[in-house]
Parts: sequence; C-alpha cells; structure tokens
Amino acid sequence: MVESWRDRLFPDTTDSAAKLWLTSAVVWGVVGMTFGVFMAILFVFPEFTKGVPWLSFSRIRPSHVNTVVMSWVSMASIGSMFYMLPRLVKTPLHSERLANIVGWSWNAFALCIPLTLLNGLSEGREWAELIAPMDWWMLVNLGLVGYLTFATVANRKEPQLYVSVWYWMGSMVGMTLVWIVGNRTFIPLDGLNDAIANWFYAHDVLGLWITTMGIGIIYYLLPKLTAGKNGEPGNPVFSHKMSLIGFWGNFAFYTGIGAHHIIQSPVPEWLKAFAIASSVLMSIPVYSASANFFLSTQGRWENLAWNLPLRFVTFGWIMYALSSFQGSLQAVRSINWYQHFTGIVSAHAHLAMLGGFSVVLFASIYYCIPRLYNVEWYSKKLVVVHFWTFTVSFVMFFLVWTTMGFVQATSWVMGINVQQTVPFLQPFTFTRMIAAVSMIFSVYIFAYNLLQTVRSAKRAQATSRVIFPSPVAPAAADD
Ligand code: HEM
Repeated sequence: MVESWRDRLFPDTTDSAAKLWLTSAVVWGVVGMTFGVFMAILFVFPEFTKGVPWLSFSRIRPSHVNTVVMSWVSMASIGSMFYMLPRLVKTPLHSERLANIVGWSWNAFALCIPLTLLNGLSEGREWAELIAPMDWWMLVNLGLVGYLTFATVANRKEPQLYVSVWYWMGSMVGMTLVWIVGNRTFIPLDGLNDAIANWFYAHDVLGLWITTMGIGIIYYLLPKLTAGKNGEPGNPVFSHKMSLIGFWGNFAFYTGIGAHHIIQSPVPEWLKAFAIASSVLMSIPVYSASANFFLSTQGRWENLAWNLPLRFVTFGWIMYALSSFQGSLQAVRSINWYQHFTGIVSAHAHLAMLGGFSVVLFASIYYCIPRLYNVEWYSKKLVVVHFWTFTVSFVMFFLVWTTMGFVQATSWVMGINVQQTVPFLQPFTFTRMIAAVSMIFSVYIFAYNLLQTVRSAKRAQATSRVIFPSPVAPAAADD
C-alpha cells in the first residue's frame, strides 16, 4: 500500500514523534554548537569575518544561545519525554500525529532562529532576542506540547505518577509562564523593570525548563541503567521523599533568583536580597536531587565500566551539582562583585548547560535510539570516542575559561583597564578555541554515528532486537 504524504510527514505510528524530535535535536545541536565554536575562533581571530555583518560576533552570539537552548536542548528533552512518558503511564502518547505536526513546526521555528538573528532582526534583550512573531509562534508550540503531555497523563493506565512525570508536567507549566513573563511581546515593560523580566527569563529558562526536564530524564534513566550485566533489575530511586523535596524546592526557589544577575544595578535592594537568599536556598533541591542520584546508583558503580549511557548521565548530573554549588556562591554579594562581567560567569553557564544537561541528553539519545529503531548503535567505539573526547575537552574548556575570568577580575580590581588586559587573555582564548574545536569534533562523531545507525535500521528493517549496551535485558522487559 502506498503511504499518503500525510502519513509520511505526520505519521500516527507508535514512537514516530520521539524519532522525529530526537533526530532533529541532534541536527540543531550540531548547528548551535558550531556557532559556539565559531565564536571561540572569533575571539582569537577577530578580523576573520570583518565586513560581513551577518557573521559578526554580535549576531552569532544570540543565534548560538537561542539555537542551543530552544532547538537542541528543548527538542532533545521533549523527544526523550515522548519516548519515556507513554512507558511510565502505560498508555500511548495522546496523538503521535499532532506530536509530529508540532515537531515540524518546532523545526521550522528552529530554522527561523538563525535566519532572523543573523539578519539583524533582534529585540536586543540578552537570551530573549527573538522578535514578536517568533514569540507567538513558540507560545503555540509550547501550548501544544503541554496539551499532549497532560492529555497523555489524563488517559493513563498507571494510577501512580512516577517522579519524572511530575517534573515534566511542572516543566510545561513553568516554561509557558517563563515564556509569557520573560518576553516583552506579552508584557511590555521598560527600563529596569524590563531588565528584571529579562533576567527572570534567562535564569528560569534554565531553572524551570532545562533543569526540570533534565532531572525527569535522569530519574527515568538511572533505574534502567543500573540494571546488572546479567539481567539483574536496576536500582529503584533511593528516596521518593528526596525527589519531592527536589521538585517543590526547585519550583519554590528558582522563580526568585533572576535578579542575582543584576546585583550591580539600581534594582530595589529587597529584590536583590530576595534573589540572593533564593539562590542560596537552591542548595536544598539541588543536593536532595544529587544525593538521590548518587544513592540510586550505589551498588552498581561497576556498570560505569561497560554501560556508556550511564557514564554520560553520571558525568552530566555531577556537572549539574557542581554548577549549582558554584551558582549559589556566585550570588553572594562580595563574590558577585568580584566575578561579574568576567568569563567566570559564561564558563558557569556552560558547566550547567553543556557539561550538565547536554551530556544528560546525549545519554538519553544513546539509550532511546536503539530502542526506537530496533537496532544496535552503528559503532560502539565511536560512542567511547565521543565520551572521552567530549568530557576531556569540556573540562579543559571550562577550566581555561574560568581561569581567564579570574585574570579579568583581578586585573579590573587592580585598576588595569579593559584594553590593557586583552593581551593577558590571549593564551586563554587560544586554548579555549582548541578545546572548543575538539569538543565539536566529538559532537560531529556523535551525529555521524546516529546517522549511520538510523540508516542501517532503515536498510535492514531489523527483525531481531539487539539493544545497546549489549549485555542488558531486552528493552521490552525494562520499559
Ligand atoms: C561546542 C560547544 C560550545 C561552545 C564551543 C560554546 C562557546 C560559547 C562562546 C564562545 C560563547 C560567548 C561567550 C561570551 O560572550 O563571552 C557562548 C555563550 C553562551 N553559550 Fe555556548 N558554547 C557551546 C555550547 C553551548 C550549549 C550546548 C549551551 C546550552 C545548552 C550553551 C549556552 C550558552 C549561553 C547561555 C551563552 C551565553 C552565556 C552568558 O550569558 O554569559 N553553549 N558559548
């Protein structure tokens, strides 16, 4: 039977949406991170794109930030949820067809991010640069993903809601509110009020979206990935109570911390104090989640030797815990005064988003793809190369950037002006560029491995189900 164009483009078959969202996410991950590497190169060769406005740093930067956040991380998180949620609530996704329609709409949106920003169509608000029609478009996309999530949960056959489901439902509400409050298209404010809304957006797109989607994914993955080599069941989540403290604490304290980005500005003192106190209190949900992840892996650390997705997810949550520890410290007035406007802050952003949640999403893709396509990864060696090249380059990238930030901070405190500090920074920007190139090389390897895996699955139309990492129970049993 010949498939209609509707069934080809927007299929209604089980898991088709998860496939579309996850594979698209990897494409946007490659694009968005390449923008990042391009900037790292521009810091060393600033004349490289001279005279080409659309390749100037000021246009590449927002294209990078918006692509990695809204296209790579968001699509990979939603794709993972579309795979995991139906299995947790024991009911199919409410509408695979609708999820595929939104998937294509989100892809078109992702394409319009660089098209608008590189052409200078920007609102000029850091991290929230997209213009009004894009804001409306994303609101519709978010509304539809939220509808699919809640409708699937409402139709569930499993009465108990596993902690991941709470996190994903919370993320849907959180991100919609953050999008409406943070983008001036919906609530136009001026001056300092606009800055407050802007930084609420910038921090909470991390706190009430990337973090909460990611933690839900970690809670799904850990019990699967701690299964023994000979098919022994995985560890259950160590403490349900700790996961709930994490959930409520996250939503209670994250909402108030945006203003810690503007402590050096004339916003009301009470708001600064509130933001600083909330930032310190964030330690409660962060450490209850991290301790829970640690304790849920206890007794199965040996799995790290052979289970590659577990390696990725463990590296990811450790980076998340470290970045949150750093974040709470950085909000304190004296420390904030010292490191504000330096590379320490940008390195910190990458500790959470790149070393943390991007790596958790690599783990999720390594886990989901073989189960979605009924095929083993094209090359297990390439997964190992991805892991080591990425993690070693990332650690170098972070340390060099942070050290550069200390040089900047100390120079400014000593009264050396910005222009004079630039020569001191050159060895650091050069080393950061090397780390960035090596990191993107590993991401290209990951994308190549995925492409070959999907192609081989399509070619073979595999009948036997071989799951990666090989010595674990069949997916049907652990899903
Ligand atoms: C190969 C990977 C990456 C490289 C080489 C890279 C590099 C860079 C560079 C050079 C900047 C400009 C910093 C400045 O203005 O001084 C930047 C900014 C930024 N990047 Fe990345 N990046 C990468 C991946 C990511 C990912 C995956 C995310 C998020 C998921 C991310 C989020 C951000 C954010 C939020 C900023 C703005 C930071 C701030 O406001 O200080 N990056 N990146």
